Amino acid sequence: MHLLILSRNAQLYSTSRLVLAARSRGHEVTVADPLDFQIVISRGRPSMYLGDRPVPHADLVVPRIGASVTNYGLAVVRQFDMMGVPVLNTAVAIARSRDKLRAMQLLTKKNIDVPITVCAKTPDSVALALELVGGCPAIVKLQQGAQGIGTMIAETPQAVTSLLETLWAMGQDIILQEYIAESKGKDYRAIVVGGRVVAAMRRQARAGEFRSNLHRGGEGQRVKMDKRYTQAAIVAVREMGLEVAGVDMLESKNGPKILEINSSPGLEGVERTSGVDVAGKIIDHAERYVIARKNKKKRRVDPIIDAERRNSRLRPAPLAARANGVASVRRP
Ligand SMILES: Nc1ncnc2c1ncn2[C@@H]1O[C@H](COP(=O)(O)OP(=O)(O)O)[C@@H](O)[C@H]1O
Ligand SMILES: [Mg+2]
Repeated sequence: MHLLILSRNAQLYSTSRLVLAARSRGHEVTVADPLDFQIVISRGRPSMYLGDRPVPHADLVVPRIGASVTNYGLAVVRQFDMMGVPVLNTAVAIARSRDKLRAMQLLTKKNIDVPITVCAKTPDSVALALELVGGCPAIVKLQQGAQGIGTMIAETPQAVTSLLETLWAMGQDIILQEYIAESKGKDYRAIVVGGRVVAAMRRQARAGEFRSNLHRGGEGQRVKMDKRYTQAAIVAVREMGLEVAGVDMLESKNGPKILEINSSPGLEGVERTSGVDVAGKIIDHAERYVIARKNKKKRRVDPIIDAERRNSRLRPAPLAARANGVASVRRP
């Protein structure tokens, strides 16, 4: 098959690993920057150009949309979806997971545990919000932060107030969150592909830091996750509707607390730590996904219903129906 990977840079570890995994399985691969596409909106005929040429044929699009290009990147993914090209992580699923508040709302609806999270919008509400998350230290987060940037800890109520006021003045959307102290700078990163945990690592923040992100100097360790954690990760990803995802979870005294779900998880740390060929697992799933999509399409075309549909398209609609405007005659 022909795979189109949307990525800003083909040299990135994760992108190049996906290219290698796909080529070693005999697939053709193109890597394109989502910002190089021109989206053409036209009734009934959505299309796109890559540079000055019509977009090449692809059997599957694999989006690796970074936080800096979320809006346009998602528009490109949505356009592929509208053009009938299968995408491994739909635009709506990526958008759901990228907004931390929206993701938390969906998770708790399914009874998945998360740190208590409050969203407030006015300085008057800060005292109550802080009380609701259990006081200080408290976590202040940008709703769309990534790689640890945008996640802060506030040790005093004054710090919470000044952080919130500053960020509000900058037009940022913020959440206030309970600090899970017992996790002590550790968390789990689980990679879920096609509804299964294919690899996981424990991440430990460097000394003096509470964020365990590898981009912030955290260190990955090999780990075998408890079943409760595996299950929580799978349910969370299913709830987002993602085919490929990285789930961040804290280990609390009451079990797993989900922090966020990443739709373009980095592969470098988790492959090196776990020894698992995650890129290979993603491409294996991509193959199954494309076949399943084709079969689903075929199954949808019931021969009898299809013949009826074709007949009715050729026959003029009854007069009454035409007068009401409820039926139209379309000739192929
Ligand atoms: N409520 C919390 N309590 C304790 N540690 C947290 C909490 N929220 C985040 N962290 C730490 O900060 C890191 C980054 O937070 P996360 O919500 O995953 O945002 P990002 O998108 O920046 O990775 C987590 O991996 C975890 O180590
Ligand atoms: Mg994270």
